[in-house]
Amino acid sequence: MCGIVTAIATRNIVPVLLEGLRKLEYRGYDSAGLAVLHNGEMVRLRSAGRVAELASLADNRQLQANIGIAHTRWATHGVPSERNAHPHVSAGLAVVHNGIIENFETIKADLQAKGYVFESDTDTEAIAHLLHHKLQSGVDLFEAVRLTTNELLGAYAIGVVTEADPFRAIVARRGSPLLLGVGEDGMYAASDTAALLQVTRKVVYLEDGDLAELRLDGYKVVLADGTPVEREVHLSSLSADAVELGKYRHYMQKEIFEQPQALANTLEMIAGGGSISAQIFGVSATESLAATRRVLVLACGTSYHSALVARYWIESIAKIPCTVEIASEYRYRESVPDPETLVVVISQSGETADTLAALKHAKSLGMSKTLAICNVPESAIVREAALRFITRAGPEIGVASTKAFTTQLAALALLTLALAKQHGRLSAEDETRYLTALRHLPVAVAKVLELEPQIEQWAQKFSGKQHALFLGRGRHWPIAMEGALKLKEISYIHAESYAAGELKHGPLALVDKEMPVIAIAPADELLEKLKSNLQEVRARGGELYVFADAGSEIPESEGVHILHMPEHYGMLSPVLHVIPLQLLSYHAALVKGTDVDKPRNLAKSVTVE
Ligand code: F6R
Repeated sequence: MCGIVTAIATRNIVPVLLEGLRKLEYRGYDSAGLAVLHNGEMVRLRSAGRVAELASLADNRQLQANIGIAHTRWATHGVPSERNAHPHVSAGLAVVHNGIIENFETIKADLQAKGYVFESDTDTEAIAHLLHHKLQSGVDLFEAVRLTTNELLGAYAIGVVTEADPFRAIVARRGSPLLLGVGEDGMYAASDTAALLQVTRKVVYLEDGDLAELRLDGYKVVLADGTPVEREVHLSSLSADAVELGKYRHYMQKEIFEQPQALANTLEMIAGGGSISAQIFGVSATESLAATRRVLVLACGTSYHSALVARYWIESIAKIPCTVEIASEYRYRESVPDPETLVVVISQSGETADTLAALKHAKSLGMSKTLAICNVPESAIVREAALRFITRAGPEIGVASTKAFTTQLAALALLTLALAKQHGRLSAEDETRYLTALRHLPVAVAKVLELEPQIEQWAQKFSGKQHALFLGRGRHWPIAMEGALKLKEISYIHAESYAAGELKHGPLALVDKEMPVIAIAPADELLEKLKSNLQEVRARGGELYVFADAGSEIPESEGVHILHMPEHYGMLSPVLHVIPLQLLSYHAALVKGTDVDKPRNLAKSVTVE
C-alpha cells in the first residue's frame, strides 16, 4: 500500500510524478503529495484527496522541476489528512515512504528529546528528522540515508530529495517494492513498473536492503553495509495498454472482460500438449510433488477463496489431504509442522504482508516444499518460495480482484492434475478430459460474460437493499463467499455467505422479504440438496436470485428469479459461476454510485499486517 515515485531528469519531471501517481493510485488513495526543487527551492504540495486534486494544485503553481518525489497514501499511522500526507520534511529535506516503521515511537521520542518538533502523526516524519540529524554529523546525503535506514525496523521503500544536494535523489527499500527506471534523459524510481512505462521500459529491481543514488547521468546501488552491487537491467514487457482503461468505464469492468484472455494466457503451456507436466511449477517440482503427502494452502481474501475451491479439487481428484488457512491466522498459531507437506501460498500481488510472513513462518518450521502462485513474477512471495507458478492475468488495477481470482483457479486446477498424475491417480482418459475442459475455459467464460444485460437488471433491484445472503454447496460454497466479498467491498451492501446446508442452523432467522438470497445452483451432484435449502428460504418469504446451470430445472415463480447459465462445466464450474457474481457487484456498485475501482478504506496490495 502507498505508492511512491522519484525522478531526476533534464525534462520537467512534475508531469511524470503526477502521471506516475495516477498509475499507483490503486495502492492507496486517501491523500497525495509531492516535493520538488523549483528554482532551487523545495516546494511541497499535499492534498487530502486524490491525485487529481494534487495535479490542479501543481497546475495553479505552474510548478516546474528537474528533481522530485511524490506519494499516494493509504493511511496506517494517522488519519488521512493533509497534515499526515507525504512528503514529510525536515529543514530542506523531504521524504516519501511506503511501509511501516515498527520502532518509530522510540526514534521519535529520541528525536523529540533532541529538540525536533513533529507536525504529523506518521511514522515517516521520524525518518525525515532522523535523516536530518544524521546529516548534521557531517556525512553526505547517501551515507546519511544508509545510516538512517540501518536504524529502521519494519518495512520501507523511501525516496529522498534535499535542497542542499540538488543533483541526486536517494531511494532505498526493505520489504516494500521499489524499482528503478533507466531513462534516456534521467533516472526514475517507483513502486511498480506501470508508473514508469511513460518514460522507460528499462527497469532495475532493487533487492531488500538496497540503497540507490539517482543522478542525471546514471545511478549506483549499494547493499545495506555500503558495498557496491550490480543489479541487472530488465526490459519490461508490460504494455502501456495493459494499464490503460481503453473503452471501459472502470478497471474492474475491463478486468472482468479480460478474463477469457487472461485465462488463455495463463493456460498457454497446455494449449497444444496432450499431457500435464509437473515441471510447469519449476524444475524440482516433479520430485517435490511426488513426495507430497499433504497440501497446506495459505492466502488472504479473494486468494483464500481460490484456495478453498482447490481443497475440493485436490482431495477429490488427487486424493491428497488438503488444508486451507487464512495466512494471518496461520502465522501466529501454534501448528504441527510436517516436512512432507507442500505449502502453497496464493497471492495476486505477491506483496501481501500476512501471506509472505505465513510462508516464512512455514519455512522456519522446517517445511521446505513451498510453491507460490502469483501474478507478479518479481514479487517478494515468488522469490521466497522454492517453486512458482506465475498467473498471466496482466496488471490488475481495480481494488476488487477478478481476473486474478479466475487465473488462480486455473493454476490450482493445473496443480491438482499435476499432483494427481505424480501420485498415479490420473488416468490418461481423465487427463485428456480435464485438459480439454481447461483449454475451452476461455470460450466458456466469454459465453457467461454475455449474460451481463440480465445481471444489470438484477443489480437495479439489489442496489436498494441493505443486506444479502449468498448460498452455495461443495466447491461452489467458496464462490458464494467470493460473491459476498465482492458485493460488500464495492457496493457497501452488507453480505454474508453460507454453505447452503448451514442455513437452518441459524442464519435462516435473518430471512424475510427484505433479504435477497443469491444461490449458486450448478447442475451437479448436490443440486437436489440445494433445492431443498432454497425451499426453506422461499417458505420464509425470502426472495431468491438463482444462478442455475442449464439442466438445473428450477422453475421461475413469484419471488424466485432464475438466470440461466450455460451447460454445467464439471470440475471447473466454479470458474464460470464466479463471473455473474463479479458482474452483479459491479453493476450494483454502479447504481449506488460508489467508487468502483477505489472502494473506501481499501487498497490493492496489503503490505501491512
Ligand atoms: C478482494 C481482494 C483482496 C485480496 C487480498 C489478498 O477483492 O482483492 O481480498 O485478495 O488482499 O491479496 P493478494 O492476492 O495480493 O495476496
